[in-house]
Amino acid sequence: MAEKKLWGGRFHEGTAASVEAYTESVSYDSALYRQDIAGSQAHARMLARQGVLTPAEADQLTAGLDAVRAEIESGVFQWKRELEDVHMNIESRLTELVGDVGKKLHTGRSRNDQVALDFRLFVADRAAAWRNLAIRTAAVFVDKAEEHREIILPGCTHLQPAQPVSLAQHLLAYAWMLKRDVDRLKDCERRARISPLGAAALAGTTYPLDPASVAAELGMNGVFDNSMDAVSDRDFALEALFCSSVIMMHLSRFCEEIILWANPAYGFVRLPDAYATGSSIMPQKKNPDVAELMRGKTGRVYGDLVTLLTIMKGLPLAYNRDLQEDKEPFLDADRTVSLSLELMAGMLAALRFDADRMARALSAGFLNATELADYLVSRGIPFREAHHITGRAVALAEERNLPLEALPPEDLHALCERIEPDVFDVLDYRAAVARRNAPGGTGPISLDRQFKNIRAWIAEETGA
Ligand code: ARG
Repeated sequence: MAEKKLWGGRFHEGTAASVEAYTESVSYDSALYRQDIAGSQAHARMLARQGVLTPAEADQLTAGLDAVRAEIESGVFQWKRELEDVHMNIESRLTELVGDVGKKLHTGRSRNDQVALDFRLFVADRAAAWRNLAIRTAAVFVDKAEEHREIILPGCTHLQPAQPVSLAQHLLAYAWMLKRDVDRLKDCERRARISPLGAAALAGTTYPLDPASVAAELGMNGVFDNSMDAVSDRDFALEALFCSSVIMMHLSRFCEEIILWANPAYGFVRLPDAYATGSSIMPQKKNPDVAELMRGKTGRVYGDLVTLLTIMKGLPLAYNRDLQEDKEPFLDADRTVSLSLELMAGMLAALRFDADRMARALSAGFLNATELADYLVSRGIPFREAHHITGRAVALAEERNLPLEALPPEDLHALCERIEPDVFDVLDYRAAVARRNAPGGTGPISLDRQFKNIRAWIAEETGA
């Protein structure tokens, strides 16, 4: 007969092997061992403070849990599938180590509030780790931007040439996205660090527990308001999955640009060898596989979010075993977003930009057409009319296969007598960038402001 379960009192027969295989979670929730042990130690100490256990019993329990953690971390701990999950594996080993007092640990507690606590702590810890990775990646975007302030490239809308921008402006856009990701993670972490311990199975407990002191000991921000809510919602994990989805979406957008820019038709970037792969049949190939996979894995993280949303949508109060399915999507997203942030930082740091190719690309696509229209407005022509005249100039240039700035001054003058030879200063791409110093623009004064603000944020976050 199979080993007796911790909950086996009312059972006469063992669990079918297929059921054990189907229902176990220890193969993945062992990842939560640190949070589980910290939660149990705080619970034991609180039980002693409240007179439910003696101080000596609490000491035995916390020391025993330290020993269990040491076994896990040195790799000698024997995880047992028949013990179902991380909680019962640890409690069972604790009782082997410290004897009968181990059986008192679960007083006033249920696995339902226990797992909710562990998972809240785990999600909050991982959100904090993603935050640090995102800050580091943002810092690489900022460094790269600073290095390439003088490079100008075609800014696009609809992936069509629109207006010239500084490469710094382009790269800083991603740093600002990551800053918002970090803000979102903080907010999510704040709500995750609310302790559900004391909710017990679903209705609260009759023991004189002190949940607030447990929460404080675990560095949490407060305790649950409603026991049924506390054991059964997973909105904190959903928020974290949403945050990771948005991070991946941001990374994926830049990946898409790397992929486009590495195509020789653009030639804006050269892939570092360490972050590219070759083809087994086409010797000339250097493929942006890392960027492609990051784009692909973004879909996978969205899937993790949708998985948990779908698990949750039909659950009546309070705990349901379906909730056990919350961990694998989260662990998958955690792995993916952590690796992706780290790889993005490395790949971006090693990325080489081709200033010449970017400069050459400026002369195709009439990126200075807005400048001509603004020039006409400055000469007293209403904007709609200026837009129309500029359109005719573009048509003329297109017909002759020339950029606007190569049209003879007399032809421009013929289109509109207000156009004088000083128009060519305005048509200069660098000058077009330099003029855009309104807050948030691509001009150098605006860039100074952006660098100052984003560097101040990084310093604040890293304590540097
Ligand atoms: N492994 C379970 C989970 O992840 C722990 C809670 C089990 N609770 C229960 N009532 N069966 O949800």
